[in-house]
Order: sequence, then structure tokens, then C-alpha cells
Amino acid sequence: MATKRKVLLMGKSGSGKTSMRSIIFANYIARDCNRLGPTIEVEHAHVRFLGNLVLHLWDCGGQESFMENFLVSQKDQIFKNVQVLIYVFDVESREFDKDLRYYQSCLEALLQNSPQAQVFCLIHKMDLIQDQDRDDTFKRRESDVLRYSELAARQHANQRANAVCQCFKSSIWDETLYKAWSAIVYKLVPNVNKMEEKLRKFGQILEADEVIMFERATFLVIAHAELREHKDLHRFEKVSNIIKQFKLSCSKMGSKLDSIQVKNANFTAIIDGFTPNTYVMVVLPDGNCSATTTLLNIKSAKKHFE
Ligand code: GTP
Repeated sequence: MATKRKVLLMGKSGSGKTSMRSIIFANYIARDCNRLGPTIEVEHAHVRFLGNLVLHLWDCGGQESFMENFLVSQKDQIFKNVQVLIYVFDVESREFDKDLRYYQSCLEALLQNSPQAQVFCLIHKMDLIQDQDRDDTFKRRESDVLRYSELAARQHANQRANAVCQCFKSSIWDETLYKAWSAIVYKLVPNVNKMEEKLRKFGQILEADEVIMFERATFLVIAHAELREHKDLHRFEKVSNIIKQFKLSCSKMGSKLDSIQVKNANFTAIIDGFTPNTYVMVVLPDGNCSATTTLLNIKSAKKHFE
């Protein structure tokens, strides 16, 4: 039986909700997103994720009249049985205070109707901020969001709310989108710990530095095992972004991504189709290792992850 997870995508009109959903789940590329029209009321999308996990995305149009309806006449319908709220803030919004008040109202409605839900706030369109100012701007916005999360939590004497809200910076123009969404789906996939334990054992048998599992359609990271410490903390989202773009280019040319090998003097990285819903990437410390043997090992390991 499929496990359904209700995911609410909210935030003011034009903040970028439909754009990010279309890139992650509908194979859009960033430059096509300015053709998207505003969402009217709620658009529903069912995404089959990892075989029996179905994400039910509620993309809630952010125009004020819709937002007001969500908070009054449709409050129960929208905020009941929610597993995740993703609230998108436009970092450049001229009305950030007003956005924060809307966020607070949505969070209060969520706490009333789905007190166990997880909350993720994306400070979005970070590409519009100069490189050197990004960290400071994000910190300022994050502290505002956390302050309003606490206000909402206090209204409901809910101890968990401020601990639940997690902020990410994001942009459709770089890999930060993948970091944020991988963190979100990581919370939704059941038994991630067990899967990571199995990946670790697999990595040990292969004497690998690292083994990473990606969801097949989105290329989001769903589990990984690091067997040797690696300094680049952003490597996962970089790989997701690059391979997803490459996969889209392949399908435009009418071909299908099957397997990729990258070799240099220090390492070999092999990406290969794994279970029906995943790809795996194995990173080996030696640039001369046999890719054929690794591919055979990946093939034999598949059944343990299905
Ligand atoms: P509603 O449907 O009205 O609620 O809006 P929305 O939140 O779904 O916004 P939408 O995804 O339609 O995006 C509005 C505009 O923002 C589009 O022109 C996108 O191209 C642009 N946009 C989305 N994400 C980004 C981003 O990360 N950076 C920049 N610079 N523009 C973005």
C-alpha cells in the first residue's frame, strides 16, 4: 500500500513556489520558469517517489485573496493532515514584514490542525543578492523567520514549533535548490537510517570512500554513507544539479542516462541505475580501479535495496 504524504507549498505570489516544484518534479529548466502563470487557488500534484511513497503537493497560490481564503473559509481543508509545510519567502520582497505576518498566520493554522508537521522555510531567489552579502542577508532573514515561528508557537503553547522550523537559502539558478529539497524529502522517506546502514556496509565491502543514493526522477539525495571524511559540504547538491541537467540534455537528444564514470588520478566515481526508483553513486579512492567489477558489484547489491 502506498504511503501518502501531504506537502503544503505556501508563500506570497511570485515568490517562486511553482518554479521550484516544476524544476524538481516536472523537469523544467530555470530559464523556462518565467513563462509560468500565477497559481489559481490550489494546484495539486501527486508525485510517486521511491515506489510506494506518494507526495501529494498542494501548491497554494499566493495572491492575497487566495491566502485569505486559506486562512478563513478553507482553513481546515488546507491545514489538516499535513506532514510538511514549505514556506517560500522572496528574499528581495519589499514587504517582508507583511510576508512574515502571513507566515505566522499560516503556522498558527498548521499548529492547530497538524501539530506534528515539519516546517521548512526557504529564503528564495538568493541569486539576486550579491555574492558577498548572501550569508549576512540570509542570517537576518532567518532570524526574523525564527522569531515569528516562536510567536506562532507561543499562541498555541506548542513547545515544538520553534524547534521544528528549519531555514534554507535557495535559488532556481544554482544547486542550493537541491540542498533544500533533499533535506525536505530526507524527512519524508521512511526508514532512511536502515537504508544508510545498508549503504555503509555496501561501501565497506567495496572499500569505497562514499556511497550516495539518488531518487531516479528528481536526482535528489535520499541517503548516503560517508566512509572517508570529505571537505566539500556542498558536493551532494552539486552532483544532483549537474547530473539532473545532463539527464535532461540526454532525453532531449532522445537518449537515456544509463551509467557514468568519472576518473582522475585520485578517485573513480561511478553513477549507475540501481533499484527501479534510484541511482547510486560509488566513489572509490583509486583512479585505476576496475569500473567493470564495481558495476557488477552494484548489480549484485540491487536486490538488497529493493
Ligand atoms: P503564485 O503562483 O502567484 O503563488 O507565484 P509562485 O510563488 O508560484 O511564483 P512563480 O514560481 O510563478 O515565480 C514567479 C517568478 O519568479 C518567475 O518569473 C520565476 O522565473 C521567478 N523565480 C522563481 N525562482 C527564482 C529564483 O530563484 N531566482 C530568480 N531570480 N527568479 C526566480
